[in-house]
Amino acid sequence: MAHQRWKEIFARHPNKIRFFRAVRNYTARRLKPGMQLLDIASNDFRYAPLFPGVRYIGADINQKSLAKGTAKFPDSEHLAVCCGAAQLPFGTAAFDIVVSTHTLVHLADLDEFTAAVDELVRVLRTDGDLILGMTDRPAKTKVIVATIGGQFSRITQVHYRRSLVAWWESRVVIKAMTGKRPILSGLLSAVGPLIYAADIFGPATYTLYVCEGKA
Ligand SMILES: C[S@@+](CC[C@H](N)C(=O)[O-])C[C@H]1O[C@@H](n2cnc3c(N)ncnc32)[C@H](O)[C@@H]1O
Repeated sequence: MAHQRWKEIFARHPNKIRFFRAVRNYTARRLKPGMQLLDIASNDFRYAPLFPGVRYIGADINQKSLAKGTAKFPDSEHLAVCCGAAQLPFGTAAFDIVVSTHTLVHLADLDEFTAAVDELVRVLRTDGDLILGMTDRPAKTKVIVATIGGQFSRITQVHYRRSLVAWWESRVVIKAMTGKRPILSGLLSAVGPLIYAADIFGPATYTLYVCEGKA
């Protein structure tokens, strides 16, 4: 069942193969039933299946996305909290695992970004784990490295590309393909394989930081 869920998620995001491999390696070694996991900017709980057996709290500013998440997982082990990443309504050291992927870079203001990164660490237990994924941006990467440095016993960085493919997979393109626009749809279908090929040779654009807490 878990295997099937992984397959489904991967089928929707084939560009993230290294991301999924790294998360799976992590969960196989570190995940224990009953752990408390906070997913910041969780959207519709799309990555909840990657962390089976934990108590999953999805936090997002979009109430509609959260409602979709709770509809998908209508059980007491999946909860939704509507809040902004820079001001989390949780106590200090409340979680065993904090996850945040594909979002914080969109916080345009560096102070807000820094506050959000500080919040991720604040709500994490001192022996807790942080899984943080972000598009590479020098100023923001500097903040991350300064914040997580020295806090964890082991930090693994996984780099992967997702520029063109992310665009290709974006809703706009998918919509154009599935809508009633045969010419556009045909054109995009033809160009798709070239985009995947181009991304293989492009520079890495994205880093996943898998940070394991001090025992
Ligand atoms: C690109 S999705 C990422 C979803 C998921 N984490 C993933 O990796 O696919 C961005 C999500 O971040 C949420 N978001 C944007 N700004 C936020 C903020 N300041 N605080 C919390 N969530 C935010 C949006 O509502 C959206 O659900």
